[in-house]
Amino acid sequence: MAIYYGGDYNPEQWPEDVWREDVELMRRAGVNLATVGVFSWARIQRGEGEFDYAWLDRVLDLLHEGGIAVDLATGTASPPPWATARYPGILPRTREGATLWPGSRQHYAPSSPDYRRLASELVHATVRRYQDHPAVVMWHINNELGCHVTYDYSDGAAVAFRSWLRDRYRTIDALNDAWGTMFWSQRYTEFDEIVPPRLTPTSVNPAGLLDFRRFSSDMLLELLRMEKQIIRSYGATQPITTNMMGAFPPVDYWSFAPELDVISDDSYPDPRDPGSFRPAAFARDLMRSLKPGTPWILMEQAANQVNWRPNNARKAPGQMAALSMQAVGRGADGIMFFQWRQSSRGSEKFHSAMLPHAGPETRTFREVSELGAALKSLGTLPPAGRSKVAIVLSWDCQWALDQANHPARFDYLSQVRGWHAAFHALNIPADLINAEISGADAPGGDGYDLIVAPSLYLMRDATPLVRFVEEGGCLFTTAFTDVVDECDRFLPGGFTRRLGPVLGLAVTDFEGVQGTEAAVSWGFPGEHLREVLTLDGAQVEATFSDGEPALTRHAYGAGEAWHLATLAGEAGRTALAAHLAARLGLEPVVAGLPPGVEACRRGDMITIINHNPSPVEAGGEVLGPYEYRVRN
Ligand code: GLA
Repeated sequence: MAIYYGGDYNPEQWPEDVWREDVELMRRAGVNLATVGVFSWARIQRGEGEFDYAWLDRVLDLLHEGGIAVDLATGTASPPPWATARYPGILPRTREGATLWPGSRQHYAPSSPDYRRLASELVHATVRRYQDHPAVVMWHINNELGCHVTYDYSDGAAVAFRSWLRDRYRTIDALNDAWGTMFWSQRYTEFDEIVPPRLTPTSVNPAGLLDFRRFSSDMLLELLRMEKQIIRSYGATQPITTNMMGAFPPVDYWSFAPELDVISDDSYPDPRDPGSFRPAAFARDLMRSLKPGTPWILMEQAANQVNWRPNNARKAPGQMAALSMQAVGRGADGIMFFQWRQSSRGSEKFHSAMLPHAGPETRTFREVSELGAALKSLGTLPPAGRSKVAIVLSWDCQWALDQANHPARFDYLSQVRGWHAAFHALNIPADLINAEISGADAPGGDGYDLIVAPSLYLMRDATPLVRFVEEGGCLFTTAFTDVVDECDRFLPGGFTRRLGPVLGLAVTDFEGVQGTEAAVSWGFPGEHLREVLTLDGAQVEATFSDGEPALTRHAYGAGEAWHLATLAGEAGRTALAAHLAARLGLEPVVAGLPPGVEACRRGDMITIINHNPSPVEAGGEVLGPYEYRVRN
């Protein structure tokens, strides 16, 4: 498939005479796809049951005549003022009980029956009208589901939460057992007593908070499914997508992925941060990994500066293309922007666009057009294959760990990102995986040589990882792995009850550490946490300064399992990743590249990108600042 190129197109912000110029300039820039209607609800609907699509008919026809395909948005992200005035129950509430009023965007409670009904009516009307329009090649559900309003604590949410809990636990006794409510006199006698985790004197029940986060993610999943079902009920056959936000903490994207035909990501690395290409690579790899074998599109990025950081740097010449080619090299089948034409009014008028307010005679438009031509010249791209390294990413762990009252507080996602970064810095490709999938999609079945599971604190099912090692894989775990069950409860008999035999040890205690308290004899500091281990077959590879085991290795089945009894910072992750790569013979895409130079493999295509603001010598040639090369 040829690569998609374009951006969000918001023609409702402009008089019609501008639309023709838009299409003409889109063609000049090499645009072949426009995402239309993301925030058009108020323009389409003036009141309940009053739809006006005549203007959108003209927009889609014009784009089609210009040879530009349309990713048609369902437009459900921002209910118009008439809707919230008539049905105030649509509005979400914060944990403190404050209402989030209309006047910006995305002010809807995901579980609100009125929101769902009105959003459904809009999707029905739009799909009915455009399912056969020749311009429409994709459906775009909502916009960044969960953005701005991630958690809703309203009375409506309380009703929906209780119903979600009834489905999950059936009886209040089962819920009391799961949440451990004998502690602090929290025992419930009926579901109706339960409220969302609103403001409390001190920490709320951790299993209750974990379930509220699961519920909140599930409410957004329900919205995705609701819209998808409506689209399919008309027999519309175009692929369906929704734009995600990297490893967005509140939404379990493993649960979204099976619903989608195209995976999409919005990505805004800070151009001022010289290291921001690394987390960007993580997001690209996550998108490729969410549903292997499925196309993914970089749905939004900035052509130049954004307007929502306290201070917004422009992208340096070439930087936008470098980050775009990073996505292509890591499997993207589309490069898109927010937005096509810079707004002249409203909250985002200082956000860059493909076509700046100052017009086409600008550096931004020139670079946009150059990239359009470069992407076109790539033709059809090979599919992105699997990597040899996989890093486990679990939203359950993120939700269970981002809580109070642990031996130490640390950021789970930055651990996962950090491990990805360590391999990325070596130019060794890595996928992200959901370690608890069994059956045909189990991690062992994918031919990985190495699985890194940072702080896999909450585990439902260890079988896939156990089998992976049995069958010859190498598993690397770090402190706070295999601590609790699905309901954040310890298992009887101590810790590491499920992975202990594989790791050849048992964890018997934890402590928070600071400074050099957990220095590891391999020459790097341990961070945040230290575990006390009892060895049962594992060999000690490194110790803490008091001689206790810090890093262990255990042969198990046809494979081996390593455990680090602390958390590694950047230095530790770099040393460990290099050691594991050498031990397992993991090859970089291109060897010997200088710092800040990235190499991506996609089938036979190798992309080398200089993310430095200065020229470098890489692979026998000089690459200018932010310059890239594609080799076949
Ligand atoms: C998000 C939204 C867009 C726009 C951009 C600005 O990604 O989806 O509508 O607001 O941010 O960076």
